[in-house]
Amino acid sequence: MSKQIRFNAFEMNCIAHQSPGLWCHPQDRSREYKDLEYWTDLAKILEQGVFDGIFLADVLGIYDVYQQSAKQALTGAVQVPVNDPLQLIPAMAAVTKHLGFGVTTSISFEHPYPFARRISTLDHLTKGRVGWNIVTSYLASGSKNLGLSNQVSHDERYDIADEYLEVLYKLWEGSWENDAVLADKKTGVFADFKKVHPIQHKGKYFEVPGIHICEPSPQRTPVLYQAGASGRGQTFASQNAECIFIAAPSKIATQSVVKSIRQKLIENGRDPYSAKIYALLSIVTDDTDEKARAKFKEYQSFASYDGALTLLSGWSGVDFSQYQSKDKVEYIQTDAIQSLLDSYVNADPARIWTIEEIANWIGVGGNGPVLVGSAQTVADELQQWVEDTDVDGFNLAYILAHQTFQDVVDFIVPELQKRGVYPHQYSEGTLREKLFNSEAHLPNWHRGATYRTGQTAPTSAFKKVI
Ligand SMILES: Cc1cc2nc3c(=O)[nH]c(=O)nc-3n(C[C@H](O)[C@H](O)[C@H](O)COP(=O)(O)O)c2cc1C
Repeated sequence: MSKQIRFNAFEMNCIAHQSPGLWCHPQDRSREYKDLEYWTDLAKILEQGVFDGIFLADVLGIYDVYQQSAKQALTGAVQVPVNDPLQLIPAMAAVTKHLGFGVTTSISFEHPYPFARRISTLDHLTKGRVGWNIVTSYLASGSKNLGLSNQVSHDERYDIADEYLEVLYKLWEGSWENDAVLADKKTGVFADFKKVHPIQHKGKYFEVPGIHICEPSPQRTPVLYQAGASGRGQTFASQNAECIFIAAPSKIATQSVVKSIRQKLIENGRDPYSAKIYALLSIVTDDTDEKARAKFKEYQSFASYDGALTLLSGWSGVDFSQYQSKDKVEYIQTDAIQSLLDSYVNADPARIWTIEEIANWIGVGGNGPVLVGSAQTVADELQQWVEDTDVDGFNLAYILAHQTFQDVVDFIVPELQKRGVYPHQYSEGTLREKLFNSEAHLPNWHRGATYRTGQTAPTSAFKKVI
């Protein structure tokens, strides 16, 4: 039987997300990002297309690595201005019944205690449709505005993330027992005081003595997403993530990172398929291959070269304005996203990229590949990608808001459904139940489950499930 394919939509609460310059296209709507209708219209399109969810990226800094200045980012609206992603979710939830919401926040920019409450609130309001993309961030400009002289080093950010998660698991999983809430109007007892536990957390980075301030939400812990693919990032993912988002420019690079993640999951005692892996990709489609190619060519004419290098420099932590456009790109270790240059340089050493080539590549669809063609052509390619790379699905970036997603829903989804590789409808339940056909709460083998009902340390982090 052919492998199933899943879609997420990749978005961000800003103008030009993964395709810098395309906001100038007459049909692009991303300038409307400040309007609720922009988001509710999108949510309805995605639910019509049975997307697993909308995945909202976020940064709290400005892309000022390129030319060591914020000029290009501001001039070209390169992921700035950027509004808060969490506040979009209730509006989108109100016009949908099933769509999931994977929201990005960084462990570097908010204390886990108020963060736990913000996520629990969303999980209540959406009836359990919330996921959290755990990032450690990469822009030093963000850290500086929070009073740090510079960004904490790459691997230490993951150490902080480990403890951040420990605090959250204690709050979400361990603080309130399942039957703590009585809500008994006759006796006037709302909560059984003895069943709500202060978490007494005292660690290297955080001190949280009290209880979780929210009663348990449908999923307790949101579905956990992760998007860092360095060695340290993969270790963190294999200990926490239920869904993993990767971005690589080629099939070979994607194959290599998927293989490495599945191996890391096994090393941590997990089923290699217990985390769903979504690869970044964009689709340009139309009635015929010819029309789709013409569309793509037109889109390319709007791509911003400086905008692309602004993104590349911010993601990688390397100022690419100091090189010539024909220079070959080499791997440079930085404190930003280490897996980024790795996916261009090391994952497929036979493919040599110049700076100009990467800039043109990123200009339409960011780091991910762009599939161009009729529904039949693109569906063939998607199936081949899944076969060749072992991904579970795709995190689809838009090129034109919302035309790209509307085209996918009108052309690609019906073709995949006809082939029996894409769902016709949602299953019931929370996001976790829909994705894994499981319980609403974290599975018993998960690290977070070891913190339930007063247990304070992970004694058996993972049970082998393969
Ligand atoms: C595909 C992908 C998407 C990411 N999205 C975000 C994001 O929206 N916001 C953010 O602060 N970091 C984001 N990151 C950064 C990482 O999740 C990570 O915490 C950090 O930069 C280190 O990444 P590394 O382990 O690949 O070196 C992303 C990384 C990747 C690979």
